[in-house]
Amino acid sequence: MAPPLVDSFGRVHDNLRVSVTDRCNVRCFYCMPETEVRFVKRGEILDFEEIERFARIAAGLGITKLRVTGGEPLLRRGLPSLIRGLASIPGIADLALTTNGVLLSELAAPLYDAGLRRINVHLDTLDRERFVRITRRDELGRVLAGIEAARRLGYRIKLNAVAVKNLVEPDIAPLARYARENGYEARFIEFMPLDAQNLWDRSKVLLADDIIETLSREIAPLDPVPDPDPRAPASEYAYADGGGRVGFIASVSKPFCLNCNRLRLTADGKLRYCLFALEEDDVKTPMRAGASDEEIANLIRRNAAGKWEGHEINSSRFVAPPRPMYAIGG
Ligand code: 5AD
Ligand code: SF4
Repeated sequence: MAPPLVDSFGRVHDNLRVSVTDRCNVRCFYCMPETEVRFVKRGEILDFEEIERFARIAAGLGITKLRVTGGEPLLRRGLPSLIRGLASIPGIADLALTTNGVLLSELAAPLYDAGLRRINVHLDTLDRERFVRITRRDELGRVLAGIEAARRLGYRIKLNAVAVKNLVEPDIAPLARYARENGYEARFIEFMPLDAQNLWDRSKVLLADDIIETLSREIAPLDPVPDPDPRAPASEYAYADGGGRVGFIASVSKPFCLNCNRLRLTADGKLRYCLFALEEDDVKTPMRAGASDEEIANLIRRNAAGKWEGHEINSSRFVAPPRPMYAIGG
């Protein structure tokens, strides 16, 4: 057995997020600029064979969890066949996908047939007008239909909402109620400095504790669930009335870097040990130049080994990464 992907802080990496495209069919302001989005050229994007090869090598190094992301991954042509390939890699115990849901009505069934069982759908609001304000596209109807299609097929569904202060407060309780009535888990992600226009500052983050207070008041009291996986970034809470769970990704108010078990592969084949990393390792060039599996494995080991302690969002030293979220992969 190859040594695990361990870094100098003792963190073991078993989780890989693979972005399959940087393109998106909406334009969430906390992720993308409104106009003049610069996408990677098609030939620069890893093909399915390259992605599968990389994932297989990573699985040999102890990666057991794989998440497919974007941009919007459902825009990648032929995605079900990639999913089928990834689902069959020995050692991958958990395969999931994060989508904005716009194309889910069409793709939920083929993806399910390919072996996908778990999806996170990005949804900030049930209000059409605020949906347009946030995503700059009028697609709420299609997203809700997509979620419904996925539910009928039997997917395990989580709903991701980005918590932006002075904007989404009216959406918190309706979203959580909608999730709990349909058997989805709502998860609130504190707004992070990953937007393309440097809009972020700390005062614009709606903190997890404030959301917990709102939900406890408006829906039912929430109790923390003792964490079965202390390395998962979300803190889980359960409604005291038995009405399901809510997750919080408190990247700003309670950074979880010291437990981080993730690596990321961008659509253009760069390996990143952190969402906020300022450096990355090019794996595409060596792969295209004929590097052996062992050489690629060493590159992955080296990237993980060199991982920094964590982002410093809360410090004056913080430097936003040069790529916005859609170009990194969420
Ligand atoms: N802060 C926090 N979360 C973000 N996402 C996108 N941009 C940001 C940001 N600036 C989340 C979306 C998406 C996931 C991949 O990343 O919720 O679902
Ligand atoms: Fe697209 Fe996701 Fe970015 Fe929104 S957050 S613009 S859905 S990639």
